[in-house]
Amino acid sequence: MHKVGVIPGDGIGPEVIEEARKVLDAVSGKRNLTFEFEEFPMGAAHYLKTGEALTEETLQRLSKKDAILLGAMGDPRVQPGVLEKGILLKLRFHFDQYINLRPIKLLDGVPSPMAEPNRKIDIQFVRENTEDFYVGLGGRVKKGLSKTELTLKRRTFEAKFDIGIDLEDEQELAFQIGVITRQGAKRVMDYAFQLAKSRNLDLVTCVDKANVLTDMYGLWREVADEASKRHGIDKEFLYVDAVALHMVRMPERFKLIVSPNLFGDILTDLGAALQGGLGFAPSGNINPSGVSMFEPVHGSAPDIAGKGLANPVGAILSSALMLETLGEKEAAKDVERAVQEVLKGGKHRTSDIGGKTSTSKMGDAIVARLIGG
Ligand code: NAI
Ligand code: MG
Repeated sequence: MHKVGVIPGDGIGPEVIEEARKVLDAVSGKRNLTFEFEEFPMGAAHYLKTGEALTEETLQRLSKKDAILLGAMGDPRVQPGVLEKGILLKLRFHFDQYINLRPIKLLDGVPSPMAEPNRKIDIQFVRENTEDFYVGLGGRVKKGLSKTELTLKRRTFEAKFDIGIDLEDEQELAFQIGVITRQGAKRVMDYAFQLAKSRNLDLVTCVDKANVLTDMYGLWREVADEASKRHGIDKEFLYVDAVALHMVRMPERFKLIVSPNLFGDILTDLGAALQGGLGFAPSGNINPSGVSMFEPVHGSAPDIAGKGLANPVGAILSSALMLETLGEKEAAKDVERAVQEVLKGGKHRTSDIGGKTSTSKMGDAIVARLIGG
């Protein structure tokens, strides 16, 4: 039995999560699985009513789940960041979900604005999710002598930065500190190389900008090198600019990419474009020994919410990723196959790729395929 916390969230979040739930119900019938779903009403409506984004009590209850399935956060009635940071980022941080897994796959029947017809794109993209320039250390100073004390506090260590800046003339300056730790890099590399092994891949592409940001990505490379030897799988180092270029011109050359946080953020959106748009992109925020959270890459899309126009495929493929991580590999394959066959059939297409199929009809078609095939 798998205990899953469900957070539908805002905008199209609840609409696409409903379809993912339908598909999970169908596959559990087929494979004889049992899920216990518990819904959590976090999001704009709850926040506007109660003033609460995410409480300690909710975190406690979620910590007892095997996984979390989330729709999307964000609502025009709430100041930007309150829900996204107050719920999404807090969950990722609290559960130390240090891997952001974003498979980039162009499915048959889905047009890609960036790839030539019949091109095979199938990339496992592993993005580090806790470090780099996203650790929240920075400041702004004006003319004169200033002292800034910054602390990076983590479960296993604490680092203090005392920064004195003496700025002459009428200048103003802002700075942001990026941090890579050996431990933080090692755990993401171990995940990436193990994933490569489980998929019988013989090469891992490591992204960085070690020619300019030599300290941070020097350490990143060192750790990648050690991981490559330890796991007995080859690696290549590529600079982020080259990866961006190759992803557009020759995406089929990549099988598994591991990237620091910031570059990964940007490259995975490029990846979503390659695979036909945001509506198709799934993701997992993974802690291999903790509670992982699965969500479509897209946001709450207020412009189309409530109209039955949302593409539920990203959410449905996210639930397939969840199944895989829960060890239900056959069920995960069933869901993926059903999605692939429906899209390949060409009869059911949502409006984001020029079709007329509604959100729920798309879900129904995938369920029918799953049960029938
Ligand atoms: P968005 O991803 O919500 O929408 C961007 C564009 O793509 C819109 O035109 C939308 O209609 C379209 N789109 C997105 N998902 C779609 C789907 N499944 N089917 C068809 N079309 C789809 O990003 P946007 O507009 O920048 O942000 C809206 C809100 O969502 C903001 O509050 C933002 O902060 C939040 N957001 C939340 C995320 C999350 O929960 N993980 C991620 C990105 C944004
Ligand atoms: Mg992004």
